[in-house]
Amino acid sequence: MFDILNLFLNLTLISAIFAHPSKNVPEITENTPGFTIKAVTKPFGLSEGPHWDHGSQKLFFVDIMNQLLCRLDPISGSVTHTYIENGPVGVAIPVEDEPNKFVAGSGTDFTLVTWDSEFNLTKASTQVFATVDKGHKGNRWNDGKVDSSGRFWGGTMGAEINGKVQPNQASFYRIGKDFVPHVEISPVSISNGLAWSKEDDIFYYIDSPTREITAYDYEPVSGTISNKRIVFDFEKNNITEGVPDGMTIDTDGNLWIAVFNGHVVLNVNPKTGKLIRIIRLPAKRVTSVAFGGPNLQKLYVTTSSYGLSEEEKKQQPKAGSVFEVTGLGVNGLLANSFQL
Ligand SMILES: *[C@@H]1O[C@H](CO)[C@@H](O)[C@H](O)[C@H]1NC(C)=O
Ligand SMILES: *[C@@H]1O[C@H](CO)[C@@H](O)[C@H](O)[C@H]1NC(C)=O
Repeated sequence: MFDILNLFLNLTLISAIFAHPSKNVPEITENTPGFTIKAVTKPFGLSEGPHWDHGSQKLFFVDIMNQLLCRLDPISGSVTHTYIENGPVGVAIPVEDEPNKFVAGSGTDFTLVTWDSEFNLTKASTQVFATVDKGHKGNRWNDGKVDSSGRFWGGTMGAEINGKVQPNQASFYRIGKDFVPHVEISPVSISNGLAWSKEDDIFYYIDSPTREITAYDYEPVSGTISNKRIVFDFEKNNITEGVPDGMTIDTDGNLWIAVFNGHVVLNVNPKTGKLIRIIRLPAKRVTSVAFGGPNLQKLYVTTSSYGLSEEEKKQQPKAGSVFEVTGLGVNGLLANSFQL
């Protein structure tokens, strides 16, 4: 009995290690003992931008194309939502000390949204503070986050024509409380994941089609980035499927990267450029990640069903859901709110 169990465990371990082309990198699946990967919402369209609000212990996220800002209460499992009329909602982040206010990138507008997230609201009232990418028809806001000084950093993506995003038409911006957008990186194609190191001295950034994770020196007071370098390259690591999308960082300084069209989240050490672990989700379009929960030990993962064929939707019935992964043994960093 003992030997059979041992053999079973060994086989599980071996298959976990060799299941991915990158050798010796453990892969965590729904069936890996010691971990849980479960959907904690119903399937949405294009769920994205998870943001853990530590004060309220709630997870905010967006459903981009349905223009929804959503809030999950992980204790009760209930989700409330509101609609933002300005355009596809790439990102929304709470405003510090204003429980009913959010800043959101909707269409090309940077807006202030008012919503009591205890309730569903058919249409939130919005106030436009800035509009970006004027002259680039079809561009829209995509991912964004707030830095340690309460400033918003986020970028746009180019227009999608016949299913192809037009390259080098978008930009990455910083917006402080004066609401003047400062161009930080331009041009970019699909501005996506971003994260700051715990020490607040490195900024990590993803422009999806490059299939690279880049790093910059970060100066937190002035909010300046410099000295761009590549810390992880999909090509060099033989990652053949998908592109990097949203990203977060843990207290050990390691990155967690959602892979759109790749079924996985990659755990990468940006100091060594090594792939540490792979988490396989039951959805192909993995869009973003954020740590949450009382000790910031749960990894929330957003996924998309938008654009999947009927066949793929049948194979991936949970695509579009927010998933919760436990058992990783690491802690995330607190997410910042926007300071008005
Ligand atoms: C909000 O709407 C969802 C359906 O989209 C429903 O399940 C939920 O109970 C509603 N919540 C409240 C507080 O009305
Ligand atoms: C990628 O594949 C090549 C060729 O098989 C191999 O030499 C190289 O070590 C691989 N790189 C990684 C990081 O696995």
